[in-house]
Amino acid sequence: MELFGNPIKKIAILCSGGDGPGMNAAIRAVARTALMSGFQVDGIMRGYAGLLNEEIIPLNHRSVSNIISRGGTILKTARCPEFATDAGKEKAYQILKKYNIDALVIIGGDGSYRGAARLLELYNFPVVGLPGTIDNDLNGTDQTIGCHTAVNTALDAIDKIRDTAHSMERIFIVEVMGNKSGYIALEVALGAGAEDVIVPERKFDYERMCREVREGHKKGKISWVIVVAEGAGKGHEIANTITTMTGFETRFVVLGHIQRGGTPTGQDRILATRLGVAAVELIKKGTFGKAVGIAQDEIFLTDLKDATRKEFKHLDEYYRLVKLLT
Ligand code: F6P
Repeated sequence: MELFGNPIKKIAILCSGGDGPGMNAAIRAVARTALMSGFQVDGIMRGYAGLLNEEIIPLNHRSVSNIISRGGTILKTARCPEFATDAGKEKAYQILKKYNIDALVIIGGDGSYRGAARLLELYNFPVVGLPGTIDNDLNGTDQTIGCHTAVNTALDAIDKIRDTAHSMERIFIVEVMGNKSGYIALEVALGAGAEDVIVPERKFDYERMCREVREGHKKGKISWVIVVAEGAGKGHEIANTITTMTGFETRFVVLGHIQRGGTPTGQDRILATRLGVAAVELIKKGTFGKAVGIAQDEIFLTDLKDATRKEFKHLDEYYRLVKLLT
């Protein structure tokens, strides 16, 4: 296959940014589809950082055996400030040439996509992106690899917290991941039947919340679960404030990185597999610079440079439903 005057012989795969369950399924799908199509395949360890350190290993059919069900990523992942600079990209480009890598599949979030888009812009280097982040905050896809598992993991934890909250008649603040995105918090709040949800995208009013707690208590309510996205406030501070303002015993739990690990759900494995195969099919067609996503259950392509951070489109609806059903 000819590309920019060069035959494509070798594809490399890397994961970048925060890991998410299902990344391994994507690696497997990309590697096996590429190998079966006659390409050589390299895995780049530790994302762009590993690329700059030349941590590059050949992958074969067996390298990706039995990983579809495993959380994390066999290639490991990292955040890499050096690659964010153009000097870092120049170094990366030279290393890609040195290892005869003709195309790169990047699994990551919007920062990872931005880096890939710039590599294409600067050097015309063939890149394809797969959406890998639990935050589900990328344009060009209804769902990112990992978000479904993360929501289920958080729900499982909150169901357990609900038991103790109800038995001891307490308020629980549950802090979930999402620095800039309230996606996980809103999904989890709706799915867990939480009493309230605090997200970075919405202004939050302590007075209103504490008034509702007091009014609910008068009507016989004895326990509350309030979900907060990490970027909207710290669980312990919110718990202290609520205790001070209402007099009710309040505890907090930070679910943290538990949400990033564990066995990927069927939905994440299948999504990752479909997207991974589609990425290689694009490369075979000589189409590059795209983020491969899913929209209305069909493969959907977006220019990488446009696949930036997006706001959860059901934010207002989910918030309204959480409050409606309290
Ligand atoms: O982007 C995914 C994510 O899990 C965010 O929800 C969270 O804010 C961030 O990564 C945490 O990053 P780190 O693992 O580097 O602390």
